[in-house]
Amino acid sequence: MASTSDINLANLDLFENGAPWATFAELRANDPVHWSEEDPNEGSGFHSFTRYHDIVKVLRDPATFTSERFTNLEEVDAEQEEARRSLLETDGARHRALRRLLQGEFTPTAVARYETFLRGLTATTLDTALAKKEFDFVDEVSADFPIRVLARMLDVPDTDIHKLIQWGNEMVGNTDPEHAAVLIHSEESEKYRLVPFRSPAALEVFAYGDELARQRRGKNGTDLVSVLVNSEPSDGIPLSERDFHTNFLLLVVAGNETTRHTISHSMNWLMNNPDQMALLKEKPELIPWAVEEFLRCASPVYHFRRTATQDVQFHDTTIKAGDKVLTWFASGNRDETIFEDPNRMDVTRNPNEHMTFGRGGPHMCLGNALARIEIRIMFEDLLSRDITLERNGDIDYLRSNFVHGIKRFPVKLG
Ligand code: HEM
Repeated sequence: MASTSDINLANLDLFENGAPWATFAELRANDPVHWSEEDPNEGSGFHSFTRYHDIVKVLRDPATFTSERFTNLEEVDAEQEEARRSLLETDGARHRALRRLLQGEFTPTAVARYETFLRGLTATTLDTALAKKEFDFVDEVSADFPIRVLARMLDVPDTDIHKLIQWGNEMVGNTDPEHAAVLIHSEESEKYRLVPFRSPAALEVFAYGDELARQRRGKNGTDLVSVLVNSEPSDGIPLSERDFHTNFLLLVVAGNETTRHTISHSMNWLMNNPDQMALLKEKPELIPWAVEEFLRCASPVYHFRRTATQDVQFHDTTIKAGDKVLTWFASGNRDETIFEDPNRMDVTRNPNEHMTFGRGGPHMCLGNALARIEIRIMFEDLLSRDITLERNGDIDYLRSNFVHGIKRFPVKLG
């Protein structure tokens, strides 16, 4: 059996040039519950689950694998938990009540209301980008698109969009010096330990949300901020200031980076697979299926974390109460026992039960229908155009083992 003890998934160098697919394959084959040490100043180490079915078991068992101790690698103390908890880090009845508050806005029927708006936005975005002939696909196409949709759902002006993008970049990119002035493990970040991502940008998002809440409280708006401030959770416990801050911030962050990177990765995969691009151009009716394959191949969220609440045995490993467990969605999406020829993009793959949004657990992505419609409409428009895009330089990836992100993607019209 090959030794996997040298593999450390805390080492960001592994992720510098995109996803370490071969490493994931090795772990799935030889070490399905793999231990990675962390720098003692950063964390106590973690178990990595890389097989599809194991990940599903973890996600579906919040009693044994809780989200309440937080869902990123960073270890937080009780004071930080109290200050920073959103619905993502809440389990049980309170989680259900908070989720219910928002879920009506994110059903497939609810998000279908945005179809006309999305078509217009996509057309304008692509017209502007393509007029430039040479451009960066991230900057011109994928970066602004999801946040513009969210801005519409929050009912905030277009002039605020760049601020929202900047804040999102800083928070999610808190391990990448190019994106964040305050890096997560820096001394400076200690000042921000009580806010999400230990990022000063989170305070700006809170202040921005407060101003929107002030304007909308007690009125009858239907935007997401109005829903948050004017509805009572079904458990009868009103939303605290902290609840509003952290859940508003979650909405700003969750839908922005993830959808952006899916669009960029999908374009890259299509360029690398011209037969698949040609098939979709010829048969656009396949695009809704293709979206599922785009999501599987992109896997923009590498992992989320859970924490064991009791000792539990998985394969040959005893996971101790309090241990961190990482569910590597990106690896589960390449599990060869689930997906035939998993490294191949096959836009007709069916079934395609990927775990890009999680799979079946209570925290399954709330925005999945919205992300799907955005990606579908983007590629329906892009692939209907009589153009060829070519790569015009190297792709730069985000230095992160949390988000599988593309920072730069230079392209030109062929
Ligand atoms: C391609 C785009 C997206 C991906 C890959 C993605 C991925 C995920 C994942 C993996 C989870 C956690 C699942 C789990 O732990 O079981 C999640 C949760 C969540 N996502 Fe998404 N997401 C995307 C887009 C969006 C959008 C557009 C929104 C809406 C603005 C959104 C809002 C949320 C929220 C609020 C949660 C927390 C749900 C809960 O804890 O109950 N996401 N997402």
